[in-house]
Amino acid sequence: MKLGFVRTVITADVNEAAKFLREGGTVAFPTETVYGLGANVFDAEAVAKIFEAKQRPADNPLIAHVASIDQIGELVTQINKDAEVLINRFFPGPLTLVLPKSDAVPLIATAGLNTIGVRMPRFEVARAFLTACGVPVVAPSANLSGKPSPTTWQAVLEDLDGRIDCILQGDATEIGLESTVVDCTGDVPMLLRKGAVSIAQLQAVVRETIEYSSLSEDSPRSPGLKHRHYKPKVEVVIVDSIDPDDIQNGSAYIGLQKEADPRHFSYKKVCSSVDEYAHSLFEFLRECDRMKIQTVYCESVPATGIGAALMDRLRRAAAG
Ligand code: TXA
Ligand code: MG
Repeated sequence: MKLGFVRTVITADVNEAAKFLREGGTVAFPTETVYGLGANVFDAEAVAKIFEAKQRPADNPLIAHVASIDQIGELVTQINKDAEVLINRFFPGPLTLVLPKSDAVPLIATAGLNTIGVRMPRFEVARAFLTACGVPVVAPSANLSGKPSPTTWQAVLEDLDGRIDCILQGDATEIGLESTVVDCTGDVPMLLRKGAVSIAQLQAVVRETIEYSSLSEDSPRSPGLKHRHYKPKVEVVIVDSIDPDDIQNGSAYIGLQKEADPRHFSYKKVCSSVDEYAHSLFEFLRECDRMKIQTVYCESVPATGIGAALMDRLRRAAAG
């Protein structure tokens, strides 16, 4: 199906944005992780518009966002003990739980799966928007499929202008990487995607939580993991340190090393913490593409806490 051009309204008014959504439209909105592209979960036609606008493969399921814990009951048939513990500890926040879906959720939203990812954002604008919508909102990241997730409304506009009904303007997102995804439909919780909620934090409340290894099975447990993700045009090279002799002229650098020699880089960001690095990464990669930079050197960080999620995204961006 070819997408017709739509006029994309940009507004900071939560109620105006929610009206578009209630009338079957698509609305991009900020969360604490990245901007999402939302539609009414119960409206199969509206959900289809998300896949079209993003050019998202139909076999990649969406996350449903709720304004309250109560709303989860509209989406799932069961919340087991572990899921309950994780909800009590981490909702609202950057954690998505995969749970058995109710019949009310159309299969297009879950890409045919009988499970659904559920998340309750903590970002104030997101919560106000979801409350005004009055229904759970399915939302993947609001980028064209394959591009880095957007962390500003301008990045959403860059990818989706004329393809979606509305952008709810807000600040740059806080965390800058997508939510942690945990499957709660098996015997023990299984971490499918790394995010701001770390494996150590999960295990502190549910000790049995395990990490999914995409290498151990033929079909990925989280369908999104098999798709090419976070792939900017710029070549991403992960480095432990900068050796000036190895650096191509006109390249870019992002990392924590103050001594990275500015003469070698056309574009550079020295971050004061791993949190700031995570917060800045996707927008930095987008800017490299706008500047048509060929190579970006990204410093590796210890894979603990948000560093584990950051290294995961860097490796995906670096992979052919
Ligand atoms: O932080 C976030 O999660 C952002 C904001 C907007 O909430 N959303 C986001 O959505 O990153 P998306 O669609 O880009 O990534 C969703 C991930 C994919 O890897 C998908 O495969 C996985 O969650 N997922 C969703 N539903 C699932 C399900 N039922 N079973 C397994 N994995 C699922
Ligand atoms: Mg995405």
